[in-house]
Amino acid sequence: MTSNGKPTVRWGIVATGLISSWFVADLILERKDAAANHIIQVIGSSSLQKGKGFIAQHLPNASPAPTVYGSYEQVYSDPNVDVVYIGTPHAFHKKNCLDAISHGKNILCEKTFTLNATEAKEVLDAAQAKGVFVMEAMWTRFFPLVKSIQKLVHEDKAIGRVHRVICDFAMDQHLESKGPNSRLKNLSLGASSLLDIGIYSLTWGIIGLEPPLGGSIKELTEKPTILAMSTLSDGVDIATSMILRYQDGRQGILSSHSGTGMKTPPSFCRIEGSEGTIVVDGGAASVPNSFVLKNNGQEEKKFEFERPGRGFYWEADAVALEIAAGRKESGTMPWAETLRVMQLLDETRRQGGVIFPQD
Ligand SMILES: NC(=O)c1ccc[n+]([C@@H]2O[C@H](COP(=O)([O-])OP(=O)(O)OC[C@H]3O[C@@H](n4cnc5c(N)ncnc54)[C@H](OP(=O)(O)O)[C@@H]3O)[C@@H](O)[C@H]2O)c1
Repeated sequence: MTSNGKPTVRWGIVATGLISSWFVADLILERKDAAANHIIQVIGSSSLQKGKGFIAQHLPNASPAPTVYGSYEQVYSDPNVDVVYIGTPHAFHKKNCLDAISHGKNILCEKTFTLNATEAKEVLDAAQAKGVFVMEAMWTRFFPLVKSIQKLVHEDKAIGRVHRVICDFAMDQHLESKGPNSRLKNLSLGASSLLDIGIYSLTWGIIGLEPPLGGSIKELTEKPTILAMSTLSDGVDIATSMILRYQDGRQGILSSHSGTGMKTPPSFCRIEGSEGTIVVDGGAASVPNSFVLKNNGQEEKKFEFERPGRGFYWEADAVALEIAAGRKESGTMPWAETLRVMQLLDETRRQGGVIFPQD
């Protein structure tokens, strides 16, 4: 469907937790540079009452108001839904995706895509067989700031030959105050600092160290080896550190911590090259704000970016454009990349001794 020359997507939101509230708040923002039109068509929740409460709190002025369902199944079978957004804890992503795919629905699924690579492959195989669009919601990769860094580093060679990326994502998740059924504490829900926030550090390693896919979906060739350690609390990794080493010596030193009061300072990532550095700033590794390019012998240059709301609309716009173009996967976050990230996380967990009951 298109209007004003831009594709329109009618979203079916599955689950009414924190991330779904952030996602819908961004989708309804007025933006002058929007590449697509977004309609929150339906909300699916485990309870009708919760769904209604979600609309009252987060979409009070939506007109017409989204339909509310007291089950996810009704979202998948609604013919007015173009794309299902999945915002449940990681442990349910496989089932939610497979159910949506069986109804022929396109999907944007939160990170981590699944609990492990075996589950991810199952979902992607099903998507391929059914011919639907599926994308992992690794939203940070869609920020204009990230595209700008990738161009500077990998195309313009603004810092020479890249040697190393250091990135940390630490935040206090107040684990002591959470109950045993919190997705951050319960292993069967996928509790893990690595899967929750370490995936962003890994993503920055990939952004800084590897040339981008450039929109062409091809076999990925970069296969770094990993050295990793985790600190566990009741089996949950509250801290994980990993070193990625590529064949030519490039290294990523990447970490996450969710178990103490520590928070990563604003300069959360440094990309080092033979002729300079890029230091990235933001509230967290998931939401970069600006970066400073320092090329040896030249003056520092700061790059700042406008970002109304949080920035989830960039990934949503990309979904709309890919689907309008008839594609089944994203050029920025293709299936092979989702699978490779899951494999890197699996290997990191294996070395750190982080095991989910579903593994
Ligand atoms: N991109 C980002 O920046 C970002 C940030 C935070 C989280 N995330 C991702 O989003 C996903 C959800 O995280 P969240 O922080 O939004 O979680 P949350 O606040 O706990 O919400 C999860 C929702 O999933 C549904 N759900 C279904 N079965 C559940 C169960 N057994 N236990 C708990 N919830 C259940 C519930 O909605 P209903 O009752 O309405 O069905 C619940 O409100 C995770 O995969 C996480 O990694 C991404």
